[in-house]
Amino acid sequence: MAVFLGIDVGTSATKVLAINDQGTVLSEASSSYGARQPKPTWSEQDPEDWWLATVQSVRQCMERSGVKPGEVRAIGLTGQMHGAVFLDEADRVIRPAILWNDQRTTAECDELELVCNGRQELVRMVANRAITGFTAPKILWLRNQEPRNFEMTRKILLPKDEIRRRLTGEYATDVSDASGTLLFDVARRRWSDELLNLLDLDIALMPRCYESTEVTGHLTRQTATLLGLTEECVVVAGAGDCPAGAIGTGIVRGGVLSTSIGTSSVMMVHSDNCKVDPHGRIHTICHAVPGKWLMMGVNLSGGGCVQWFRDQLVSAPLGSSVDSFALAARFAPHVLNALQNCAAQRATLSSESLYQLLDAEAAVVPAGSDGLIFLPYLSGERTPHFDANARACFIGLTLAHTRGHLMRSIMEGVAFNMTGTLNIIRSLDVPVAEIRASGGGSRSPLWRQIQAGAFGQGVVSIHAEQGPSYGSAILAAVGAGAYSSVEEACDAMIKILHSTSGSDEEVSYYARRLPAFEKLYHMLREHFDQPQPIQCH
Ligand code: XUL
Repeated sequence: MAVFLGIDVGTSATKVLAINDQGTVLSEASSSYGARQPKPTWSEQDPEDWWLATVQSVRQCMERSGVKPGEVRAIGLTGQMHGAVFLDEADRVIRPAILWNDQRTTAECDELELVCNGRQELVRMVANRAITGFTAPKILWLRNQEPRNFEMTRKILLPKDEIRRRLTGEYATDVSDASGTLLFDVARRRWSDELLNLLDLDIALMPRCYESTEVTGHLTRQTATLLGLTEECVVVAGAGDCPAGAIGTGIVRGGVLSTSIGTSSVMMVHSDNCKVDPHGRIHTICHAVPGKWLMMGVNLSGGGCVQWFRDQLVSAPLGSSVDSFALAARFAPHVLNALQNCAAQRATLSSESLYQLLDAEAAVVPAGSDGLIFLPYLSGERTPHFDANARACFIGLTLAHTRGHLMRSIMEGVAFNMTGTLNIIRSLDVPVAEIRASGGGSRSPLWRQIQAGAFGQGVVSIHAEQGPSYGSAILAAVGAGAYSSVEEACDAMIKILHSTSGSDEEVSYYARRLPAFEKLYHMLREHFDQPQPIQCH
């Protein structure tokens, strides 16, 4: 049997999965780790944690599958995009990796656009505007703020590529992940000499770049022994987590678009040529399908809004960060008993059941949540507003609104926001013939129906839930020669499960409602931009 592993170096865990050449998942394993916030807007991780999690998960995955070491022909790597790992001449990690969700580089984003003579010039060179999460501003930050660390830096790697270095000893990346550095000529699929020169950065700092299905090396003897695999096992270039997720959901032909609701929500569409939004509102990156491109909108609002609602307003006060029992004991001892009873009852409801209960409550509320609108910007927003100051709000609350209304309006707010991204894609003349919904949020039939209603187009769901790790295992299968192309592999492995469409009334109702939703953000922007005094305990 030929087996392929997908390794996803994520933000909260490293996930590994094994598939056979039919695309059947044989086993999965994951090991989690945390991120550090040494300052309020910073986000860092120790690459050693990724490595330990990779070793543990590969070994577990192998044990669970019962697969023999020699059967694993290839590994595909994927992972969180945009992060920067700085290595010295002895390949030592110089400082903790700076992650995609770190916000320290506002000044460096301005510096980038200035050096390039404006945003349009930057977009012309690398197809994207500067945003704090991308890699180039992090490199400039290191040069500006930690010059001694910058002086010591000999190589800069993305998270999955640091794992590749430990697996194979090679410095390499793939075109899709390289696109998210903001140092890559996305149209020509190679490092941008022009921008690197302007920024006075040596191209030798960057790893060699491959198409996603190309083989970048073999496991070293030492690593093969450590993982319980063989030196014959090759490691293909792989892809960033979004493009690998696109492969895992079969977004490999023109006209097929994916919407994925995880903590955030991501919308991606395949394109046969390199189309760029001149305003930089959505990203254009190289696809993991060789010679193709992907247009991508990342909404920071997604399932995270529902999770916040569940934790803070539904299971609150039990799930809140404030110790409700201590507060009740001090200020309202008469409710302590009731609180304890309540805690005992809630303890029997798993978080999955709680989501299902909220989903059922939202399902009986009519489309439009009886006038309640939720702006979902709990973490600021990337696409379509690129506004770190954007904030979330419920607008239009009355005494008649129930918990189900709140829940439904959150789902609708997230879907409206995604529709904004979809409409930018449509406005660039990118055809959207089929929409594939995936991610945890799309497991809810109601949320799929709301998406279909807001998009004005039906959505289909597919059988594979694992997204990026599944996609990177497919890339491994193609790289090892089990299929002649990514398209052929996806056609054989990915199956459509069911399709959902909104009723005509819902579609026309949501189409009328969307402008009100969009207008609210613009009306409130001035308020969001004021410094907000927040007093925390
Ligand atoms: C993509 C992005 C995130 C990270 C982490 O642009 O910022 O999806 O890749 O998952």
